[in-house]
Amino acid sequence: MKYLTFALAKGRLAKTAMEMFEKIGIECKEMQDKNTRKLIFVNEELKLKFFLAKASDVPTYVEYGAADIGIVGKDTILEEDRKLYEVLDLGFGKCKMCVCGREESRKLLNDHSFIRVASKYPKIAKDYFYNKKHQTVEIIKLNGSVELAPIVDLSEVIVDIVETGTTLKENGLGVLEEICPLSARMVVNQVSMKMEDERIRKIIKDLQKVISQ
Ligand code: PRP
Repeated sequence: MKYLTFALAKGRLAKTAMEMFEKIGIECKEMQDKNTRKLIFVNEELKLKFFLAKASDVPTYVEYGAADIGIVGKDTILEEDRKLYEVLDLGFGKCKMCVCGREESRKLLNDHSFIRVASKYPKIAKDYFYNKKHQTVEIIKLNGSVELAPIVDLSEVIVDIVETGTTLKENGLGVLEEICPLSARMVVNQVSMKMEDERIRKIIKDLQKVISQ
């Protein structure tokens, strides 16, 4: 039997996903060792392999077949736009992709003004403003702490993830427009979906049961 390989987005998503996998009998003891420097973990009995990767790299591993299955946020799936199948909404890691800024900037959005938009997600931002809103904007790519941008006048608004809204609130910002809901998703390599159809479908079915409980 061939190994099935899972790529998990490092951090909270991976932790919650592994807890979910344990409920359907998929576990990896090796992975629970906090001090390990190993990069890949194996469950010999079930012929499974697991590795942790930077979230934005997970869709790449899956598209190229280096991983059969990926666990990653919808934000990353949209931003990376890789050829893969999104097969399941895992129902955790729920948040929203939003346009945020100072309340005064709402008018600039309503008027379709030429504004600057800072984001870690330039593709999502471009898609929203150009294809959905038909508003011409300048998009500035940032790599983190995006809420700083409107505060120091780098941009009028930002496109970012909002979970509790605390970061925005504490910085005098708010949600101006909602783009889409986000959560953790399971993605599958297009060839693996055909070649390992039976094993993968069983995993999806078992996970669906856990999700609906
Ligand atoms: C994310 C996001 C917001 C924050 C939202 O940042 O970019 O900054 O979480 O959460 P809240 O609505 O609950 O306050 P992350 O922690 O991923 O770090 P980053 O600054 O590197 O984007």
